[in-house]
Amino acid sequence: MCGIVGLVGEIVVSDLIEGLEKLEYRGYDSAGVAFLRDSSLCVEKNKGRVASLKEKLSELLNERITLGIAHTRWATHGEPNDINAHPHTDCQSKLCVVHNGIIENFKELKKRLEEVGHRFGSDTDTEVIPHLIEEYYTTDLVEAVRKAVKLLEGSFAIAVIHVDHPDIIVGTRKGSPLILTVGNGVAGIASDVTPLLKYSKDMVFLEDGDIFCVSKGGFEVFDVVGRKKERKPTHIDWTYETAQKSGYKHYMLKEIFEEPSCVAATLSGRIKSAKVHLPEIEELQDLLASSKTLKVVACGTSSYAALSFKYFLENLSDVCVDVEVSSEFRYKRPNFDENTVLVAVSQSGETADTLESVRLAKSKGAKVLAITNVVGSTLMRESDHTLLLNAGPEISVAATKSYVTQLVLLYLLGLKIVELRDQWNERCTKLIDSLLRLPEVLDATLSRTEHIKEVALKYKDFQHFMYIGRGLGYPTALEGALKLKEISYIHATAYPAGELKHGPIALLGPEFPVFAIAPFDALYAKMKNNMIECKARKAKLVVLTSDDCEDVREIADDVLSVNSFSEQLYPVLMAPVIQLFAYYIADALGHDPDKPKNLAKSVTVE
Ligand code: G6P
Repeated sequence: MCGIVGLVGEIVVSDLIEGLEKLEYRGYDSAGVAFLRDSSLCVEKNKGRVASLKEKLSELLNERITLGIAHTRWATHGEPNDINAHPHTDCQSKLCVVHNGIIENFKELKKRLEEVGHRFGSDTDTEVIPHLIEEYYTTDLVEAVRKAVKLLEGSFAIAVIHVDHPDIIVGTRKGSPLILTVGNGVAGIASDVTPLLKYSKDMVFLEDGDIFCVSKGGFEVFDVVGRKKERKPTHIDWTYETAQKSGYKHYMLKEIFEEPSCVAATLSGRIKSAKVHLPEIEELQDLLASSKTLKVVACGTSSYAALSFKYFLENLSDVCVDVEVSSEFRYKRPNFDENTVLVAVSQSGETADTLESVRLAKSKGAKVLAITNVVGSTLMRESDHTLLLNAGPEISVAATKSYVTQLVLLYLLGLKIVELRDQWNERCTKLIDSLLRLPEVLDATLSRTEHIKEVALKYKDFQHFMYIGRGLGYPTALEGALKLKEISYIHATAYPAGELKHGPIALLGPEFPVFAIAPFDALYAKMKNNMIECKARKAKLVVLTSDDCEDVREIADDVLSVNSFSEQLYPVLMAPVIQLFAYYIADALGHDPDKPKNLAKSVTVE
């Protein structure tokens, strides 16, 4: 997966670099730019991060140019090195291409192109694209791109510039996101909206098969046979500032601290007269009221939010919630039909396995409800209905505010389902009241950051961690372990506490600490027994509990605590604690939590 950006109009070289910095979460093993200067093509690229490219270009950063394209790469074909970095050029170095995705038939195409005299320099699948366009080019760049695209198999978002056309960027997309905007004096394309917010807030979300041509004054979109297509912009409320670090050391920290305001935005307008108001799903009401089962698919952190939803809703209603990771769901025999609702949870709305699960479900007639943060994402466009998180852009690879807002939105959905099934009771009314208080109570959790940091630093040198929990504490344990391993590279595993004695307890000892999610809830007594078992193995014990739990200090080595609150909402209140715990360990170990090694924010390939 990679990030691409292209700008045309009144720009300087550093505008392209700034755009890339916003997209680095999509890949950061190499980076490159191409722009036109004195009617010739200037290409700079290197292995490593955007920062080293910026350094290489330091003399040129303020240079005025009229157009350029740029790329930050996460290697799939060809190791990350200077040569394989994008952009890639044709034989005559007249045109340049950046690409996100995979060209599956590149070997056949490369062979054919070599047979007719094209010379290749890299090991990438991408390089066939500029050569194919060169093959078809006479004078019309759009036409050449259109003909080349017909031969490409796989997924791609592509942007092309040509020395003969100093004022246009041409490109296309299929399966990989691409957004276009025309602002005041500058037009642009990018893999997500963040590099473009500076120029305009009206974004065109290109669709699969669209071939675009953008200049500073406007844009045109065609289909693969050359017919003009109408594409309307969508207005985005995100501001350029929300995509900045705003003084925080890392985006991850900033995004954790945004959680109270993001939750307020997720709740906004969705609770009226103590009931949940979700007009987006009106057409699903009959199905949600009657289906015995609800299917949910997601990956990574989103799948743990989905698992919390299962515990939450099954506890309040008679509906059975089937949660599966998308990479398993999509390859199974589909045992559902047009009476099924599939809820697809994905922050980015671009995760390949989740999208394939949605396509499978739709092919069987199921109705798909998307829970996503990204307006115009592929998931949103392919689903029948969408509920938006409204969490603003999440830049850090590690999901934080999107997880918290997913929990809140899924809980709202759960309460709506309970109401539709006539199972509403006093507990639900209390939950509504608690949901409304969440922003303020989350603030209280964040006010304990110094203590969380202090405890985290005591554990930074351990090689292993065991997270345990019961009930709603279990998905929180899973997410806690995921956060720790993905950003600090400490081995962390999670189990339902009751499973400890079926194997994992054999691992415990002074070198293998335990992180217990143990709020003072209905399952606390059981959790206490498990924690005592861990201590009996001489394991260090960190307990994340609630303020009303009085006896935990007798067994714990360290206690982290949140306000006493509605039991079902502890996953939300405890999320910042597990996130900050992982963050401070990663930072103390010298790792960049925003860009963990080998990981990317959205996994758009299988
Ligand atoms: C990647 C990210 C995770 C994220 C997962 C699912 O693995 O690193 O943070 O939870 O993808 O992403 P989605 O956008 O579908 O929620």
